[in-house]
Order: sequence, then structure tokens, then C-alpha cells
Amino acid sequence: MSKHLHLESTTDSQSFESNYSEIALALHKQGYIVQTFPLPPHLPEALLLALKQHYFDELAPAGIGREDQYQHNPFVRSDRIYWIDQHCHATKEYLSWVDGLRRFLNRELFLGLRQFECHYAHYAPGDYYKRHVDAFKGEQNRKITIILYLNPGWQCELGGELIVYDGDSQNPLIKISPTFGKMVVFISDEFPHEVLAAKVNRYSLTGWLRQDGT
Ligand code: OGA
Ligand code: MN
Repeated sequence: MSKHLHLESTTDSQSFESNYSEIALALHKQGYIVQTFPLPPHLPEALLLALKQHYFDELAPAGIGREDQYQHNPFVRSDRIYWIDQHCHATKEYLSWVDGLRRFLNRELFLGLRQFECHYAHYAPGDYYKRHVDAFKGEQNRKITIILYLNPGWQCELGGELIVYDGDSQNPLIKISPTFGKMVVFISDEFPHEVLAAKVNRYSLTGWLRQDGT
């Protein structure tokens, strides 16, 4: 029985390998990647359900910075967030998928990633997050940003795009519509980005692979 389980989990991690390697290659070559639906098909669905069933009432106004530098500034961002943990099947499975990616990136790109922090985000109609970077160069903290969109039936006309800029440039490098199951991965200190207001509710899971320990 345990042998059988072992074989199954080997098959699983192997099936993610090609995906992990696509991400690693893109991060190495251009620093970012947008994938239409990289996770196992049931997972985005389960993550959205978990948000609605367990975490929706826990969402709270997002702050900027961490710990002692933490401040709530609605001029910069107006979304509400909830930091996830291993408490339900869906978040556990997602955290384990990301951990596989973390180990793959460490092996292939020597990034020394040690932990992952991640929150749900809810942007109500009109909410935004102005242009910002997720990490500052030279700081050993957030290294890789991973965003997963959880918006079934999303249409381009609804807005809510993530606009990614190349360094200091004012010209958008890429505009990403937050369609269901899409994932965006980029090097946290290289790409300023902003979230435009949408006409309807916009849901996502946003996380960072960090180089510091717990
Ligand atoms: C963030 C962020 C982007 C998005 O939370 O830092 O930039 O598309 N989110 O939700
Ligand atoms: Mn950001």
C-alpha cells in the first residue's frame, strides 16, 4: 500500500516537472512568465470555493510593508486580503505545488528560496493597487512573485488588468487580464506593476517566495 502511494506521488511530481521547468526557463531568460492554466484542473476551483466558504469574512484591508513598517494606505491600494495557511485541503495542495516549484527553482537556478507567504485578495469594483514593486534590490527577502487568478467567466471588457512595466519604463511591458486559472510569475524586484480597477469583483491569490528563513 505505501509502495503504491509512493509511486502515485512520484508520478504527480513528475507531471509538474515540465511545468516547473517552463517557469524556471522563462524566469532565467526574461524574468517573468504568464501561463494560462498551469495547475491541476480542479485546484483553482477548490481554491475559489475555499475562499468563499471559509475565508471571505476574514478578508481585511491590505497594508503596505511588513511588521514594523506596516501601514494601511488606501491611496496606494484598496483591496482586502487574507494570509493563507495549511488549514484546508485546497490551500494545502496549492502550498505543496508551490513548494515543488520552490525546490525546482533552487535546484536549477540556485535561488536559495526558503519560504512562501501568500494571501487571497479581493478587489471590489473600483478597487486598485497603484504602481509599486514587491521588493527592493539588494534586500534578501521577496524574490519571486506568484499570482493566481480566480475569476470564472472573466471578460476583457471588465478591466482589472495587471500592468507590468520593465524597470523604470513608463511603457507597459505586458497587460494581463485576470482570467480563471491564469498564473503570473516574475522576479519581485525587477518589475514594477499595478492593478487597474475592474467593473466587478476580482479575486486572486498572491504570494512570494522569500530568501530569508522563518
Ligand atoms: C500585489 C499585486 C497583483 C494582482 O498584491 O502585490 O501586485 O494582479 N497583485 O493581483
Ligand atoms: Mn505587487
